[in-house]
Parts: sequence; C-alpha cells; structure tokens
Amino acid sequence: MAKIEDLLALEILDSRGNPTAEVTVKLDNGVFATAKVPSGASTGEREALELRDGDKKRYQGKGILKVVDNVLNTIKPAIKGMEPFDQRAIDKRLIELDGTETKSGLGANAILAVSLAVVHVAARALNMPLYKYIGGVDTPTIPVPMLNVLNGGKHADTNVDFQEYMIVPAGLPSFKEALRASTEVYHTLKSILKERSLTTSVGDEGGFAPSLKNNEEPLQLLFKAIEKAGYKPGKDIYLALDPASSEFYSDGKYHLKDEGRTLTSEQMIDLYEGLARVYPLISIEDGLAENDWDGWVKLTKRLGSKVQLVADDLTVTNTKYIKKLIELDGANSVLIKLNQIGTLTETMEAIRMVKSNGWTAVVSHRSGETDDTTISDLAVAANTGFIKTGAPARGERVSKYNRLLEIEYELAGRAVYPGMQAFVSIK
Ligand code: PGA
Ligand code: ZN
Repeated sequence: MAKIEDLLALEILDSRGNPTAEVTVKLDNGVFATAKVPSGASTGEREALELRDGDKKRYQGKGILKVVDNVLNTIKPAIKGMEPFDQRAIDKRLIELDGTETKSGLGANAILAVSLAVVHVAARALNMPLYKYIGGVDTPTIPVPMLNVLNGGKHADTNVDFQEYMIVPAGLPSFKEALRASTEVYHTLKSILKERSLTTSVGDEGGFAPSLKNNEEPLQLLFKAIEKAGYKPGKDIYLALDPASSEFYSDGKYHLKDEGRTLTSEQMIDLYEGLARVYPLISIEDGLAENDWDGWVKLTKRLGSKVQLVADDLTVTNTKYIKKLIELDGANSVLIKLNQIGTLTETMEAIRMVKSNGWTAVVSHRSGETDDTTISDLAVAANTGFIKTGAPARGERVSKYNRLLEIEYELAGRAVYPGMQAFVSIK
C-alpha cells in the first residue's frame, strides 16, 4: 500500500486577492495531488478558525505563513507514513493535533488543505475520479445549481442589503441544459441592466452588482430576465435568496438600510411570505440571523412547507449545531461549506446527519475562491442534489460548473439530474 511521503505548502491568492493555502501531498509511489482552500466574507461567528498571521507588514495582516509552517512542521511529521486511503484516521489525527474545538491550534485552513489534498491523492493513486472515490457505487446525482446572478450585501459595494439573488434551473432536464438556460438568463439580465443604465460590473461571486431602490427590485429583474430569455419562471427556473441576514442584524432587529426600515423577526417572515406569494421563490438561506433561533422556528412553521429554508451561519457545517436545529425543527435544509468545519470526514458527517433527517444539503463555495473544484465532486459523491457556486462567470466560479459538465459527460446517461425532485424537504 502506498504511504504519505511528503507535504508541500504554499501561500497563494484567492479570487479577492487575499492569501490562502495550497497543499500538495506526495506518496512514496510518486503520485501527488493538490488542494486549495477558499475563504468567506460574511462568515458565521461559530465557524472554525481561519488562521492568519496578523503581521500588518505583509498582506495587511492577512498572510498565512503560520499556516504554511503548521503544515510543514507540525502536520507533515505526524501523518508521514500513513495510508492516504484511511481518510477518517488522517482527519482524526489532524483534529487531535489541533487540540481545540474551533481548530484554532493549527488553523482550519491548514487542516482542510491537508484533508482535501489527501482525498485527492488517494483517488489519483487508485486512478479514480474523485466523485467516484468518495461516493462509491451509488447512482450519482448531478446537483441542481443555484446561481447567484445578482450580488449585494458584503459581496458588493452597493445599497442592496440582501447578499445573494439566485436562479435555480430545477425544471430543465439535465445539468448541461440547466447551465445553458441559466447562462442565457444571466446574459439577458445584463442587457436589461444596460437598457436601464444600471451598472453591469460584477460582485465577488460574479453576479451583477447594481444599486437598486429596494430589496425586491432584484427579484423583479430576475423574473423579467427569465421570461425574456424564453423560459417560464416557476416552471423552468425558480428564484432563491441568501439575504445573509446576520450581517444586518443587531440589537435583536433587522436593519434594512436600502429601505430605511428596521424589522423584527416576525416582520422579516412577513416580508419573505409576501415575496414568496408574488415570485417563484423556492429557497431562502439565512433569512434570519445566526442567533435568532426562535425566529428560525417561527419561520419554519410559517414557510417550511412551501420554501426550502437553508441554514448557513446558524449551523456552520457543524453537527453540534445541526443537531440542535433539527431538534428545534428550525429549518429544512443546511448549507455545507468544507472550511466552516475543516475536514472532509466532519463535512460528510454533517451531510449524513442532514439527509438522514429528510432535510436537504446544499454544497457551497465561499465568496473568496480558487480554481479548486473539490466541491463539484463532493456534491455528486454525496448525492446532495444541490450546489451553490456563484454566477456562470469568473474563472473560480465556472471551474466548478465546468467540472460538473465533465462529470455529467463522463457518466453518460448513468447520472440523474433530479430537478424539482431535489426539493425533498418541502412537503
Ligand atoms: P461567504 O458568503 O463565503 O462570504 O461567507 C457565502 C454565503 O453566505 O453563503
Ligand atoms: Zn449564506
């Protein structure tokens, strides 16, 4: 059996021009593979710690030389000689070495880069595509993409409070067709913005980032773009939101600056209910804030039978918080981000917990990304049914969609595109 022989670590850049970690694992048979980790902007307060140097003389304090040092001098000696096929044992070793609950010992960025480079090298050593190595023989599901085509909040420099306005091509017959239709809508949206003399520059996730008069206007624009591109809103293509509301929540209230209003949880739920009546709004992520647990329970009671309610900042891919939310019946879906928790094994456990409860799991990128495409293979392998990875623009976003096109092609008819059937948690 091949064994881990060497690790390389590099400080590279993410799509926002901030340092991030790249790790290469080399086996004693010469096989090697690399992984690169992403970085969020609207992070949940309970996420695993992303370690940065804090040395203001380099990258304004955002350097990750400590991460590189931790990989080379602490992790490498500890996992050298281990078999790459025992992912669980390697991740356990990484967790023990770190020794903290938040991965602040070594940094979640150091740990995740190693965890993912290990799974890549194991797959490569067996000559298997990554999705097949992780997923085994299950019928693979190509996920329904949720494309963030209009950016606001922390991902854009505008007055739009809500962070993400997404299109969800759940009515199309295959991933390839779903991506084509979505891309046509994206370009149509661009021409509509141009006609109205609105800016067509893009935000962090490749969606357009115009300043608009309120939080509803983007939904009107998306609805128009879908129709104008020749598709039926609510049949071919649906709408989804990620307001990332923790970002405008303080003192127990939601402060919508672009509407000059301050709302309670109940009023936020009224707002979403109103929008869902007018628009084919099928999914709302982080509609309420990360500490508004009571609000989430009310939200689910009111909208959970019609809308996929996705927890992100609330649960941070951590089974401890997912379990609590399941017990409260406080959502019906959970966002999955590898770097919120820090290892592949813990991420798979989170997905299993969510799915075994009949909820959906949405595998997600971060707003700061690289060309790494691990999440595409993961979404297929874990049969999550959903992926959220930005607009069909910007290299670090399209790399994930392109990887899914390759996987669908490779599986030639053996893969399932679930479409509306992916929404199992809306009853
Ligand atoms: P982030 O945003 O990567 O900036 O945290 C993504 C999200 O909130 O889903
Ligand atoms: Zn989110």
